[in-house]
Formats: sequence, structure tokens, C-alpha cells
Amino acid sequence: MKALVCIDKNRAIGFENRLLFSLPEDLGFYRKQTRGKTIVAGKNTLLSFPKGRPLPGRNNVILSSSIPECEEELKGGYVFAVRSTPERLLDYLDEKGLMDEAVLSGGEAIYRLFIDECDSLVITEVQTEAAEADSFFPEYKSRFHITQELGPYFEGELRYYRRTYKKNG
Ligand SMILES: NC(=O)c1ccc[n+]([C@@H]2O[C@H](COP(=O)([O-])OP(=O)(O)OC[C@H]3O[C@@H](n4cnc5c(N)ncnc54)[C@H](OP(=O)(O)O)[C@@H]3O)[C@@H](O)[C@H]2O)c1
Repeated sequence: MKALVCIDKNRAIGFENRLLFSLPEDLGFYRKQTRGKTIVAGKNTLLSFPKGRPLPGRNNVILSSSIPECEEELKGGYVFAVRSTPERLLDYLDEKGLMDEAVLSGGEAIYRLFIDECDSLVITEVQTEAAEADSFFPEYKSRFHITQELGPYFEGELRYYRRTYKKNG
């Protein structure tokens, strides 16, 4: 499994269930990376998607204890809400042969639960400190090493890099 995330200099990722930055290029990158694949996200992140609906054209695997569990046609791309343990989610992805293509898509709770299951991270690192933030990506530099850096990219005043990290060892 790989994780995609956009962070600021303090690893902040969100505020009041919204993204911190509007980066059309980065959104396009996310779309391309996930089209036809499986995204794994928490319930709050689902609610932050347009109209609070699953992203079309992808399998949306959503972790929640409050959404009724369901599995709709998998390759049509819909919601499988997993209750209970993270182990169950990993078994599920394994069983369906989806582990390699799964993209961990946040938010904070879900990154924290599954970062150790990721073999790579693709991190858009914005070179600024967000004015307000209440969600953060976990520490990763002690467990992953950088293998690629793209950028700088610019959006208005913002400058950012896209860095790929692989798990140590
Ligand atoms: N910058 C980025 O790249 C990026 C990407 C994604 C999200 N974000 C941001 O991250 C923030 C949201 O993060 P968050 O931590 O609040 O929410 P989240 O991780 O998206 O979702 C949290 C929810 O997931 C469910 N959950 C968590 N652990 C579970 C488990 N073990 N089993 C079953 N369900 C579980 C719970 O839902 P129930 O309450 O239903 O049990 C929990 O309330 C937002 O600001 C969003 O914009 C940023």
C-alpha cells in the first residue's frame, strides 16, 4: 500500500475537515494516481469529498464505525465500510488482491493507523506553515527514506515539492 498526502512544514494536513491548500496540480496528481484503483480513507475524509460522496471511478474503502457496513460492486467503485479492527481491513485488501494498488488517502486517524503498512509515501510538501491546523500526518522520516524529489512547483505564493519515500530496511 502507498500513502498520498499533502503537508505543510509542520506536517499539518487539515483544518475543520478541509484541506489546507488549494493546489489544482496536486489534485490532478491525486486523481491520476487513484483512478481505477482503491482508496482507503476515514469517515471524516469521505465527508470532506465533494457532496460527501465516494470519489467516482475508484473503489472507496471507508473506515467507520457509524456507516453501515456494506460492499457494493467492487470494480464499479463504491463504498466498503469496514467496522472494527484495522487487521480486518488489511485482510480484506489482501483477500481481494488490492493491497498493491491501494492508496492510503487520510485523514490523520487513518494515516496513523496504517502508515506502518505502507511501503512508500508520496508527499506533497508545501514550504509554508498553515495559519490554522487541527490534523497532522505522523512522523515519517525515521521510518522512511527519500528516493525521489520533484519540483519546485508553484501555486501563487506557494512553493511545494513532491517527494517519494520508501520504507527503511
Ligand atoms: N492533506 C491531505 O493530503 C489530506 C488527506 C486526507 C484528509 N485530510 C484532512 O484530514 C482531516 C480529517 O482527519 P481525521 O483524523 O479527522 O479523520 P479521518 O481519518 O478521515 O476519519 C476518522 C474516522 O474514521 C473512522 N475510524 C478511525 N479509526 C477506525 C477504526 N479503527 N475502525 C473503524 N473506523 C475507524 C472513525 O469514523 P466513525 O466516527 O464513523 O467511527 C473516525 O471518526 C481533514 O481536515 C481532511 O481535510 C488531509
